Amino acid sequence: CDDSLMSSHLLTSESRNEDLCKQIINDMNVYGLSVIDDFLGMQKGLEILNEVHCMYSAGVFQNGQIVSSALAERDLQTIRSDKITWVKGTESGCINIGFLINQIDSVVISANKMHDNGILGNYKIRERTKAMVACYPGSGAHYLMHVDNPNKDGRVITAIYYLNLNWETKRSGGILRIFPEQGGTVADIEPKFDRIIFFWSDRRNPHEVQPAHRTRYAITVWYFDAEERESARNRYRQYPQKVT
Ligand code: OGA
Ligand code: OGA
Ligand code: MN
Repeated sequence: CDDSLMSSHLLTSESRNEDLCKQIINDMNVYGLSVIDDFLGMQKGLEILNEVHCMYSAGVFQNGQIVSSALAERDLQTIRSDKITWVKGTESGCINIGFLINQIDSVVISANKMHDNGILGNYKIRERTKAMVACYPGSGAHYLMHVDNPNKDGRVITAIYYLNLNWETKRSGGILRIFPEQGGTVADIEPKFDRIIFFWSDRRNPHEVQPAHRTRYAITVWYFDAEERESARNRYRQYPQKVT
């Protein structure tokens, strides 16, 4: 393709990126969460879903865990009954998941560096977790109300990308319900294909995954605030048994 097409394409994607960042910054300021649809497009979404299906069939998913809990497996299942696996995105068979992770990084980092970025400007985002690929295998699989980071482990933003084509909530449940600390209302998020949601990971956003009656896939990454992460690391060095 010729140069002018190329540069106009780049311009479009750069300005789209900027628009996305502005929307996320504004939503996070006002609501503490932001929902973006059609994040990567049908083609890329399908390639990612295909990789997730392959991994699921290969049997690499394991029961989700609760940090620092010594619950019996049966009790754990009453809290969360999803199956998960962690990926860096560089493994073979994870190229498209790697692409997704890079796209999320790019939006989060740009938004964090933007001028007038409001609450997001209070944080210095330099690191994130690996990606957690989660499957709620139908049959009422769920995750009871919880806070991702209740005890200042450093995580500040939760980003979740959904992979579920033609999701019908009435029939299949599986809503992510967020109970923002302020506001007195709830946000019900359907886990729709190619949708991404961002929300503050701390006590501002208790949330639950309602029972899913159809296989429900999602990919989650958590972004750290450098300062909170560093304090958590120091705490852990002093009292390794007390910090999660
Ligand atoms: C989690 C979680 C929500 C979702 O894994 O901590 O809350 O919509 N997931 O999958
Ligand atoms: C789905 C689905 C089953 C599977 O994507 O909705 O039900 O694991 N998938 O292949
Ligand atoms: Mn959660």
